[in-house]
Amino acid sequence: MHSKLKRPFVFLNMAMTLDGKTSTVERRPTDWTSKTDKRRMIELRATADAVMVGARTAETDRTSLSIPDETLQRRRVRRGLPPHPVRVIVSAHCSFRDTIRVFERPVSPILIFTSRLAPRAKLDRLARRPDTRVYVVGERDVDVPAALDILAREWKVKRLLAEGGATLNWALFAAGAVDEVNVTLCQRVFGGSTAPTLVDGAGFPRDHILNAKLTRCERIGGELFLRYRMQRGAAKAR
Ligand SMILES: NC(=O)c1ccc[n+]([C@@H]2O[C@H](COP(=O)([O-])OP(=O)(O)OC[C@H]3O[C@@H](n4cnc5c(N)ncnc54)[C@H](OP(=O)(O)O)[C@@H]3O)[C@@H](O)[C@H]2O)c1
Repeated sequence: MHSKLKRPFVFLNMAMTLDGKTSTVERRPTDWTSKTDKRRMIELRATADAVMVGARTAETDRTSLSIPDETLQRRRVRRGLPPHPVRVIVSAHCSFRDTIRVFERPVSPILIFTSRLAPRAKLDRLARRPDTRVYVVGERDVDVPAALDILAREWKVKRLLAEGGATLNWALFAAGAVDEVNVTLCQRVFGGSTAPTLVDGAGFPRDHILNAKLTRCERIGGELFLRYRMQRGAAKAR
């Protein structure tokens, strides 16, 4: 059904503890990675046409999804890109507050991909913002392939960076739409069976698990910067 759909190159960037967690059980932002990791996050973001997060990450991580560094902004402009990537939030219920950081500065368009579960009043309020476009793609969930098709065709997005969290990452993996995973492995242990990991969701059954190939491994201090290329043969599970 989705065979004619287009999609950008999709790459993930996340920081993860030794025990595979991406936040503590409180799911509140804590400053637990190095300056180098934070710098890399912005540098990777600067290579993207669009940056995507799930609603909970947009809320809790107070992320602007923009490029704070003017040198990187200028470099983008020299490459024919706008200074900041298009900012994308995925949220079936539009559960995020109107005061999230993404909305604070109108540096680039904000695209909201949502479903028919989102309250009408919220959709109308968002649609009134001059920098925001709302797409209702799906009945109870956001139809990821449809959203990626809109990004590729309407917004000419060639490189889409997904910055989490685990629920959004699962939706992308389940749709077979992840090409590359960048992960910083940090020398911390958070524990907690309810703490988020790199990918949560329903999980793949044994005959649908995905394979990846390590293409980069760099150690800086106590952190490992890893890059994996996802191998073909994506799972059909959802
Ligand atoms: N270490 C790192 O690098 C890193 C990076 C990012 C986030 N995090 C952490 O991860 C945690 C957040 O992860 P999370 O898994 O709880 O949340 P998330 O993936 O950021 O957001 C989940 C929400 O996004 C929406 N969503 C995601 N996929 C969807 C789909 N296919 N269709 C419809 N809606 C979809 C839903 O919003 P609605 O409920 O509105 O429908 C869902 O409740 C936070 O603790 C954050 O600090 C860590």
